[in-house]
Amino acid sequence: MKFDINDVERTFEFEFVRATENAALHSMQWMGRGNKEAADEAACDAIKGVFDLVDISGEVVIGEGIKDNAPGIFLGDRLGRWGEGDPRFDIALDPIDGTSNISKGMPNSISVMAAALVPEGSKRSMVNIPSFYVEKLSYGARVARCIGNGLIAPVSLDDPFEHTLEQVAKALGKRLGELVVTVLDRPRNQVYTDAVRGAAASLRLIADGDITAAVAPSLHDSGIDLYVGRGGAPEGILTAAALKALGGDILVRMWPRDDEERTDLLKTVTPADLARVYRADDLVHGESALFCATGISDSPMLPGVKLIGKTAITHSILMRSRSRTVRYIRAVHDLEAKTIHLRSLRGEEHL
Ligand code: FBP
Repeated sequence: MKFDINDVERTFEFEFVRATENAALHSMQWMGRGNKEAADEAACDAIKGVFDLVDISGEVVIGEGIKDNAPGIFLGDRLGRWGEGDPRFDIALDPIDGTSNISKGMPNSISVMAAALVPEGSKRSMVNIPSFYVEKLSYGARVARCIGNGLIAPVSLDDPFEHTLEQVAKALGKRLGELVVTVLDRPRNQVYTDAVRGAAASLRLIADGDITAAVAPSLHDSGIDLYVGRGGAPEGILTAAALKALGGDILVRMWPRDDEERTDLLKTVTPADLARVYRADDLVHGESALFCATGISDSPMLPGVKLIGKTAITHSILMRSRSRTVRYIRAVHDLEAKTIHLRSLRGEEHL
């Protein structure tokens, strides 16, 4: 990869980290307090506040799911100062993935964003999937390589899941009993939990927050081999942005909840699109997407915020598909000196 002085994501990538860091820090006041809307609002306020000081023209192409009633950040919202000549970015974000976890003081919540530069005249860099839920199956780089080299057959959302488990175990050189699979704990995912238990593989159910769960198989030290289940559609696109940098892959297909949603979807998408299985490269185009996240509470991807007296420690991950460099950023914030810029105040606030 050659250094490119016009590599705009490289110039702005740390602003995205600052945004997820501030979202994590600002939402911490709501940890365990039973108010997920307030936590979400605090995170959104901080993200908007950071970008109010940044010279980009950012358009939200994947926003919060329709289920969030909080005053969130939604499809079509603008981030950045939108000055003349500012670089155009498509932005996907979930100010908090795992809002219920925060409200209960539980693990597995992060603040997360992905972004890609939009060269003039080009189309959207991320696909907006209109269904509420999608089926997802994600795996790490080693499995992806085995599929690419023909060592195992491509995994499929249509195969019996027991067969997929055998394929993945083969790719990883593990016995079925050693395979660790994460599933979002919902009745609609019972078919997968039954299959994992039936195969005597190791099951990890999670209450909420399936971005960390779906990225985990692509992280060397997560101890997770596979993520499967029906979960939020925006979370699937954000996962895809991370996997493009990590070398893993995800299969995504719309999963209408009932006939009414299916009929509604068919007003805007073709039957072929409804049935289509998207992979990471289909969901996030090009080679330059960046992904960053900051831990709010502990997850397989990142430790959560630690408050020690007047100091806060945050852990973030930042990666770009162009370079495939994965940075872990541990930041120590002196809360006596630190202020964060909030949209609601149009100014700075001490934490
Ligand atoms: P939010 O915190 O953004 O609300 O999402 C939490 C989450 O668990 C996602 O990670 C997951 O994809 C989705 O909700 C599942 O939806 P549901 O709770 O409706 O089953």
